Amino acid sequence: MEQEARAWWKEAVVYQIYPRSFADSNGDGIGDLNGVTEHLDYLRELGVTVLWLSPFFSSPNDDNGYDISDYRGIMKEFGTMADFDRMLAGIHARGMKLVMDLVVNHSSDEHPWFVESRKSRDNPYRDYYIWKDPRPDGSAPNNWGSYFAEGAWELDETTGQYYLHLFSRKQPDLNWANPRVRDEVYDMMAWWCGKGVDGFRMDVISMIGKENFDDGPVTPGKVYSDGEASYKHTETTHRYLREMRERVLSKYDLLTVGEAGGTPEQAIRYASNDGSELNMIFSFEHNDALNDGTAMGKWSDHGAPLAEVREILNRWQLKLEGRAWNSIYLSNHDQPRQVSRYGSDAPLFRARSAKMLATLIHTMRGTPYVYQGEELGMTNAYFTRLDQYRDIEVFNTWKLWVETGKVHPEDMMRWFARIARDNARTPMQWNRSENAGFTTGTPWIGVNPNYLSVNAEDEARDPDSVLNYYKKLIALRKAYPILVYGSFAPLLEDDPSVYAYRRELDGERLTVALNWTDRTAPCALFDGAGKELISNYASHKEGVLLPFEARVVLEKA
Ligand code: GLC
Ligand code: CA
Repeated sequence: MEQEARAWWKEAVVYQIYPRSFADSNGDGIGDLNGVTEHLDYLRELGVTVLWLSPFFSSPNDDNGYDISDYRGIMKEFGTMADFDRMLAGIHARGMKLVMDLVVNHSSDEHPWFVESRKSRDNPYRDYYIWKDPRPDGSAPNNWGSYFAEGAWELDETTGQYYLHLFSRKQPDLNWANPRVRDEVYDMMAWWCGKGVDGFRMDVISMIGKENFDDGPVTPGKVYSDGEASYKHTETTHRYLREMRERVLSKYDLLTVGEAGGTPEQAIRYASNDGSELNMIFSFEHNDALNDGTAMGKWSDHGAPLAEVREILNRWQLKLEGRAWNSIYLSNHDQPRQVSRYGSDAPLFRARSAKMLATLIHTMRGTPYVYQGEELGMTNAYFTRLDQYRDIEVFNTWKLWVETGKVHPEDMMRWFARIARDNARTPMQWNRSENAGFTTGTPWIGVNPNYLSVNAEDEARDPDSVLNYYKKLIALRKAYPILVYGSFAPLLEDDPSVYAYRRELDGERLTVALNWTDRTAPCALFDGAGKELISNYASHKEGVLLPFEARVVLEKA
């Protein structure tokens, strides 16, 4: 393999903050920017080098800030521009960088552009959004569904046309075919770069290039179609991204990561080593391995078996090597907690399996992303009542499937408890005080009652904690270039319990073995040679890996 070009964003460890749930500085129950600023030393000590903040812009919060009403304003609940400037200065003073969320597939319906756009058919902002006539019978222009369990079109009485919203009806899709929209977006990006932002995480960026509005295929049992063939991963999307690179991205030294999904082949186009579009993308394939492909999509009892997850992650590793850079993550604000999904959150195994999964994230080839609380081994919320949830996706899904009698409420509640996004949005668990130290007020969403045993303050003191294991892993990644730049080769590809692989660089080789199960598993990879860089067990049993054991050993090749 050719020598991989070095870059700071390849060596970075990114930490995702969901500001609403991170730390509340003023007691209103909602996390805010000053709350982030107050915890910057915690993040520096953890060792992460880049902070990605979910949207902190003005928003009516239909989708917790992913519906933006002013791209250059700070959300009232989160603070002021002065708070932002102070936070950014604090991040830079500690040698860290800030990546912001760029949400430009859609805006809020309360954005002044949309307020204008909906006024009349000849308003100068009409073409900022996607408006279409009804079909002759008055129904929506096509059969597409939104990602939040309803139709993707909303009729606007004022002008008698429908507008497209691939997410909630308060998130109208921007019309990227209009060059004025693109100019507005690029100007806004440059404005934030001018303020010192170090990169962009690009929300559903694979959907900006709508090419046609044809009906899509309907999965049996489903109400709406999937129109992705018309708008996802299109040539038009790639053209816009190359334009964005030319007009903005190429002028700054940024980390860019697209929320794109798709196949490795598509990733190679978005994140090619030739630097024509983005640095890397987020793949969804491993998280979708839980999706059993039926009408209910991700809502199911399907587990995350090793064989499926391994095949997917290995394929991404091998296909991208030498062609494109990867991003490595298991959880974020849209996914359940990784220890609950891929490991075990039973008290006996929670910490052990959280460390095993952390080992995977930091030893694969690509930039690791840690989602807030993951470094503590935070678990799913396991809400038992609908009124504990806050997510629009949950409420729309309930309406579409349960209120229509198609799904039994108990099934739905069980699937929510496994998969719903709110599982990852409960407040960060700082300490044992009331509300886990997140707020002195009433938190906007319930705190996970396990904060008495899972919290940052206790874990900082316990040398054997998940938190201290993350610190060690992140330090290793900085000390050993093989973890960043080493080649990747799968091992034991058919093993029923062990996920193993090898990295190689400059005459050294690193062997990683992870027991994915809660049972002891035979493993003949280690013979005592080499240097153990890290393990989640203090001592080992010869010839086996103990439940959820992780081992990383460095040797001369
Ligand atoms: C992305 C975000 C998600 C949001 C959606 C619409 O998938 O990660 O939280 O709901 O886009 O903006
Ligand atoms: Ca607050």
